[in-house]
Amino acid sequence: MKAAQVFDVAGKVALVTGAAQGLGAQMVAVLRENGALVTGFDAAPGADVQGDVTDGAAVQAAVAGIVARHGRLDICIANAGISDPDRAPLHATTPEGWQRVLEVNLTGVFHTVQAALGPMRAQGQGKIVLVASMWGLIGAAGMQPRPAYAATKGAVVNLARELALEYAGEGIQVNALCPGFFRTPTRPRDAAQEAAMAAYTPLGRIAEPEEIAGAVLFLTSAASDFVTGSALVIDGGVTAG
Ligand code: NAI
Repeated sequence: MKAAQVFDVAGKVALVTGAAQGLGAQMVAVLRENGALVTGFDAAPGADVQGDVTDGAAVQAAVAGIVARHGRLDICIANAGISDPDRAPLHATTPEGWQRVLEVNLTGVFHTVQAALGPMRAQGQGKIVLVASMWGLIGAAGMQPRPAYAATKGAVVNLARELALEYAGEGIQVNALCPGFFRTPTRPRDAAQEAAMAAYTPLGRIAEPEEIAGAVLFLTSAASDFVTGSALVIDGGVTAG
């Protein structure tokens, strides 16, 4: 089989949250370049639809718009996420900072998946990708303490397993994607921070944002038709240690 067939997403209808910049923008770009009909959703301006994933009605409205336009939804990537605003260990984390991370990283995923399940269950088919992190598999404090981030990303990995079981009988696959250090605008990083991340990574560097493309095409195309409930790690070897 030709690679172009295996990884074909042409004509697939997709929703990507957190699409205005960073990994989400790359996901939109690679899916579009390969012929998918993608709607990007983001709280910040710059995506196709502006809205907050913590607002269930806003995500439902975005999905309703997609279905009105295209008649279906094949792919949903719940990518919007934030890191601990306090950047501190648990004893110095504010309840507000903790709560906000839970709302975006966990409740936002809940709203996004719930909205996507409407059309996907009706059509009996769908691929859902939950963007977690390598910090959903191991603790983060060896680099920087982020208790809420690590807790929510771990929860997202296991939510993917739970949803995989709940919807396997309905033709809907759910997988987690666990990136390591990618160069994105999310956290301004100076040269010393980047060097520390590269040193922490067995492959000796951080990843460029476009390197997320292969994992995205795999998890959204027929290439992954027998894959569900898995966590695909793309971390330069960090979690191998
Ligand atoms: P980013 O901060 O560059 O982009 C995130 C996007 O999500 C932004 O456009 C932001 O406006 C949007 N967003 C944030 N909160 C939102 C909300 N409540 N509703 C709607 N949109 C919202 O982040 P990046 O680096 O592209 O990360 C994307 C995902 O990948 C996140 O879930 C992050 O945790 C995860 N990740 C990123 C890694 C990295 O090294 N960049 C490593 C591991 C995971």
